Amino acid sequence: MTSFDAIEIRRPDIASSYLALLAAQPGRPLALFAPRRVGKTHFLDHDLAPAARAAGLLPVYADLWLHKSAPLEALNHALEEALDDLQVPAGRLGKMAQTPVQRVTVLGNSVDLGPTPARRALPEAPALRLDALVTRLARQHKAAVLLMLDEVQTLGEAPDAAGLLASLRAVLHKRRSEVSAVFTGSSQEGLARLMNTAGAPMYQFAQMLDFPVLDDRYLRLLANHFHKVHPTRKLELAALREGFQRIGHKPGLMRDIIKAMSAEGITDVQRGITHYMQSPQQTALWRALLDSVEVFDQAVLTIIARGQAPMSQATLQALAAIPGARPTIAKVRASIEKLKRQGLLTRGATGSRIDDPLLAEFLATQGTPPPAR
Ligand SMILES: Nc1ncnc2c1ncn2[C@@H]1O[C@H](COP(=O)(O)OP(=O)(O)OP(=O)(O)O)[C@@H](O)[C@H]1O
Ligand SMILES: [Mg+2]
Repeated sequence: MTSFDAIEIRRPDIASSYLALLAAQPGRPLALFAPRRVGKTHFLDHDLAPAARAAGLLPVYADLWLHKSAPLEALNHALEEALDDLQVPAGRLGKMAQTPVQRVTVLGNSVDLGPTPARRALPEAPALRLDALVTRLARQHKAAVLLMLDEVQTLGEAPDAAGLLASLRAVLHKRRSEVSAVFTGSSQEGLARLMNTAGAPMYQFAQMLDFPVLDDRYLRLLANHFHKVHPTRKLELAALREGFQRIGHKPGLMRDIIKAMSAEGITDVQRGITHYMQSPQQTALWRALLDSVEVFDQAVLTIIARGQAPMSQATLQALAAIPGARPTIAKVRASIEKLKRQGLLTRGATGSRIDDPLLAEFLATQGTPPPAR
């Protein structure tokens, strides 16, 4: 390993187990549950896509967030690009084949490209277009397509969410021998809402799985590289494990923390994390994040971060100190719902909790709520 940044964990075993699950229940997508920044997209890109390709499938990735108001179009766009890639192979000849010229000379040899077969135009309506694209792509590839839909909670937030879900479900069911699908999302809350809203077409449709976070293998590689850089110093695995848990098992963040520790020559992981969190860059990030929500919601977040009951009398009294706020249970409840939609709060075992454990720590160390303004 040449640098901390080059450290990467591959998880082909998890990818094959997902492919086996998909094969065992045609027409039923998998929905991967995981908190933010734990490596969902990385997994789709570096593990699932290669495993799918090795199994003869054609993986197609679409980030639905990119086209929030029209997620089905985002999906169709990804499919169209995949179709283009199949029809126009990369390289010089491929590029030329796109032009109307039918006889071209490649390095002195005459190549007859033949007439391009006439194709019916794809339907305009997004749902029909999706159906047609999936079929066309599977035929062209002569094998099934694996749709990897990232940030799929976007579907639930789009206008006419119910209609979109119904269309997607219908296509995945009808074309089950030609297509399978894996969903992931960064908002656990949004994904849960999308999947579990009683009466929604997606209800009981997808199989929900807990996406596993990285294990000791990753931490060992980080420790090994640290030791290579500082031959006289060592990071303890147990301490790394504890630290990784403290920051919510986010590999990119862990790597940044270890890099900072390496630069400063720190080996105490807990101290390294605290140090990193208190750095001006990090606190500025938290501040900016908090400034993007209303003062009342900030106070509700702080109360939850401190483990205080958000609906209690004491909380309402504390919230009453915010100028202009007339706190009621209903207002607190509405604020909690809003914070969940924004991905700042998530459902915990005993009520709502802050999604990011480091933000929770930061909030808990701030001044008494409500924050002064
Ligand atoms: N298997 C891995 N090995 C090494 N680093 C990883 C691995 N998976 C993820 N990372 C690192 O963790 C960071 C977050 O990964 P990624 O963007 O895939 O997470 P995510 O769960 O999709 O996040 P979000 O919720 O923001 O969509 C990236 O910097 C990535 O490099
Ligand atoms: Mg992602």
